[in-house]
Amino acid sequence: MNPLRDTRDARLPRVAGPCAVVLFGVTGDLARKKIMPAIYDLANRGLLPPGFGLVGFARREWADEDFAQEVHDSVREHARTPFREEVWRQLSQGIRFVAGDLADPQAFDRLRETVHSLDAERGTLGNHAFYLSIPPGLFPTVVSQIQQAGLAKKPPGAWRRVVIEKPFGHNLASAEELDRVLADVFAPDEIFRIDHYLGKETVQNILAVRFANEMFEPLWNSRYVDNIQITQAEDIGIGGRAGYYDGIGAARDVIQNHLLQLLALTAMDEPLSFDPRQVRQEKEKVLAAVTVPRDIDLHTARGQYATGWQGGVPVFGYLEEPGIPADSTTETFAAIRVDIDNRRWAGVPFYLRTGKRLGRRVTEVAVVFKRAPHLPFASTSVQELSDNALVFRIQPDEGITLRFGSKVPGVSAMEVRDVTMDFQYGDSFVDTSPEAYERLILDVLLGDPPLFPQAREVDLSWRILDPVLDRWSESGRPATYASGGWGPASAYEMIARDGRTWRRP
Ligand SMILES: NC(=O)c1ccc[n+]([C@@H]2O[C@H](COP(=O)([O-])OP(=O)(O)OC[C@H]3O[C@@H](n4cnc5c(N)ncnc54)[C@H](OP(=O)(O)O)[C@@H]3O)[C@@H](O)[C@H]2O)c1
Repeated sequence: MNPLRDTRDARLPRVAGPCAVVLFGVTGDLARKKIMPAIYDLANRGLLPPGFGLVGFARREWADEDFAQEVHDSVREHARTPFREEVWRQLSQGIRFVAGDLADPQAFDRLRETVHSLDAERGTLGNHAFYLSIPPGLFPTVVSQIQQAGLAKKPPGAWRRVVIEKPFGHNLASAEELDRVLADVFAPDEIFRIDHYLGKETVQNILAVRFANEMFEPLWNSRYVDNIQITQAEDIGIGGRAGYYDGIGAARDVIQNHLLQLLALTAMDEPLSFDPRQVRQEKEKVLAAVTVPRDIDLHTARGQYATGWQGGVPVFGYLEEPGIPADSTTETFAAIRVDIDNRRWAGVPFYLRTGKRLGRRVTEVAVVFKRAPHLPFASTSVQELSDNALVFRIQPDEGITLRFGSKVPGVSAMEVRDVTMDFQYGDSFVDTSPEAYERLILDVLLGDPPLFPQAREVDLSWRILDPVLDRWSESGRPATYASGGWGPASAYEMIARDGRTWRRP
């Protein structure tokens, strides 16, 4: 038997051991909408131990009860599972609050006292996860405060973990600097970088479909695949997030992390096992083989959404959004072609695109196959036949679609047209899928890192994107595109140059 294979019964739920989560940024959007509700959902599913504590940190003059009320309200509004009084009572007994600024060392002294007394009162055994749901510019401050206050020192047998949210740097140099800051205080296996896409069931299913079945993998190469299109589209604008978004833009916000992770899972070779080191090794290998075409202008596209209408409602253009400078060059749409220089994928372009205010909200990975080498039908009979495609529908309509040609019934001529076969999660599985954050937070508490990108993967992704971003920074204002459409004209032109078209999701 392979010693790397996990021998635990995967069907048994794994419950976190005693621990405390220290959550920085509890007044933020992410904490209120995702993190605190996910913690409750885990408790509701019986996956948190009785000895669990949650310590909030924020610049508010709140008592423990005020913070508990905030958690309660966010759970009531955003939790996936039903509210149960007895679960809430148990969870709320472990809720504490520390008021302070992240730059204030005395606040971290108070934090240390609070977690130590929580350890004693709730039996959390000195195991602490620090969740940094704060602006990335503050990561170095907080990591150094944690160290200065002695919070990174662990008693024998206890663990320390730090969780950070994207963006992991702004480019390769700043990502490496962040790696250094974190590595000064935490060991690599204590650092958890959240890419919430990896917590999605539909994303993990890419590996299951590829490696648990015999019928796909033989086709998964340049002999049969013509191109792969990975799309993440939103039908909304930036909302109230001007401060976060401007200067970052679509490529840094989505391609650097989510889309390149989807590419890695779609293109990687089979790992020896699902041991985190093995999966990571294969992802790193394929990311290291990714190249961007030399003429970046011809093979990438970017744009900003224009003032217009969407769904019958007038909408602002990006430059008119509150808080966005009128001369901003930040892109709200980005598309790039990349290639993978290895035997499996030589000659198969991967097209990645993401944008705001596009035709619909959808994330999908489409594997588009080559045309049959010979069609023994009259050319008029196959006019409506497009390429075969296997589409992983990541969200919101989770499932898989297979598109292939089929005879139109009833007509005497052999007329062939596209049909689809659909797998929908809701039809095959009774339980609703857990939120990505439930899975990821539980994995942090279990110390299970397969779904978290490591420093090298992040650095490799920046290595792919940096030349594109550098080129774009020299080429002025992006073109605009109509809200509700599928991006600027340059996006259509870049793929047309290769003799292909974008899929309409
Ligand atoms: N929202 C999302 O969907 C999303 C998705 C992916 C990644 N992220 C990442 O997740 C993190 C949090 O995002 P967010 O949207 O929740 O951000 P946010 O709404 O801007 O919240 C940031 C939090 O940091 C706190 N904070 C800022 N400066 C502070 C200081 N000096 N002292 C104490 N607290 C301070 C804020 O507290 P105050 O209320 O006192 O200002 C607030 O609670 C960021 O790294 C972001 O890039 C967010």
